[in-house]
Amino acid sequence: MKKALITGITGQDGYFLAKFLLGKGYEVHGFARRNSQMALGTLVFLTPDERSRIKMHWGDVLDHPFIDSLVRMNRYDEIYHLAAQSFVGLSFENPKATYDINIGGTLNFVNAIKEYSQRTKMYFAATSEMYGKAEAVPQDERTPFHPRSPYGVAKLAGFWTIKNYRESYGLYLTNGILFNHESEMRGPEFVTRKIAAGAAKIARGSSEPIRLGNLEARRDWGFAGDYVEGMWLMLQRPMPDDYVLATGENYSVRECTERAFGRVGITIVWEGRGADEIGKNAANGQTVITIDPAHFRPAEIDELRGDASKAKRELGWTTRMSFDTLVARMVDVEVARLKRPDLQFTQA
Ligand code: GDD
Repeated sequence: MKKALITGITGQDGYFLAKFLLGKGYEVHGFARRNSQMALGTLVFLTPDERSRIKMHWGDVLDHPFIDSLVRMNRYDEIYHLAAQSFVGLSFENPKATYDINIGGTLNFVNAIKEYSQRTKMYFAATSEMYGKAEAVPQDERTPFHPRSPYGVAKLAGFWTIKNYRESYGLYLTNGILFNHESEMRGPEFVTRKIAAGAAKIARGSSEPIRLGNLEARRDWGFAGDYVEGMWLMLQRPMPDDYVLATGENYSVRECTERAFGRVGITIVWEGRGADEIGKNAANGQTVITIDPAHFRPAEIDELRGDASKAKRELGWTTRMSFDTLVARMVDVEVARLKRPDLQFTQA
């Protein structure tokens, strides 16, 4: 039986990847930051059987003696290093913590592999944020990087750490350059989940508008459940390499908002400009969207759109869920959650 460690297992991707690897018969270990509640995050939505099969390790990615011991004792077949400070907006406020966790944590894992378990394969969650002020559209593995946030800069250092350890020591280390991938397991601060949850509440009678930032930013949004399969495929190749995972299409935050409200039967009409723009329910005039400058970033990425041809060709990977289906799924789940907050969403 193969043994895998997933760091950051309590987040969105950890949920889908744990489910996927358990389904493939892996012994799954999870790594998550200790807190007083030992909170399982998204793992509470796994089935009790799935949860009982995951061996948790509570620690900090900056605690290198702990990581050394973990890697030395378990000699994992595969490590999926997803743990990160992953919210781009917060990285402007907490740049040092973002650098420490996202660079230092990655270094600790590759170094532990080099010292104690050289046959362990590792996947690193790199990101389309590294393209930043992108020099070409669409972006692929050859597009130059120009990160626009402390998060993007830190992830780029992680990306080069992976490449450097791979080239220097012949280790099986891969970078997955994943474009935005979403689901009902997304943290509530990310824009798709925030919009889906807000639209569901308004459809149920809330008068609280959703306060958004830049409506024009365009992102290549796929379904997280599809992307974790790509992570696994990257570790099944004869030789390690770096791959883009993306849908090849992008939509603006405004288009995402219109579709989410459309799903609950509300048509939005837009009025005003810039920070004074509002979105109203065309049927009754209720304000459902306002602009909050606090959600603008000091430097924004206007447009990301990926070209995943290499992953399609070499890994046989593909996205299966369209943007419309993804938005509909997320909104439907939020509507159901309002009716039954205890509901378990276990379908991958
Ligand atoms: N979060 C948020 N909240 N974003 C908003 C809002 C808002 O109220 N209003 C507009 N946006 C815009 C952001 O400025 C950004 O352009 C876009 O919506 C998407 O923001 P997020 O959902 O926060 O995601 P992200 O693109 O910054 O980062 C995500 O994707 C990356 C992959 O490209 C994260 O998952 C990263 O960890 C990941 O690497």
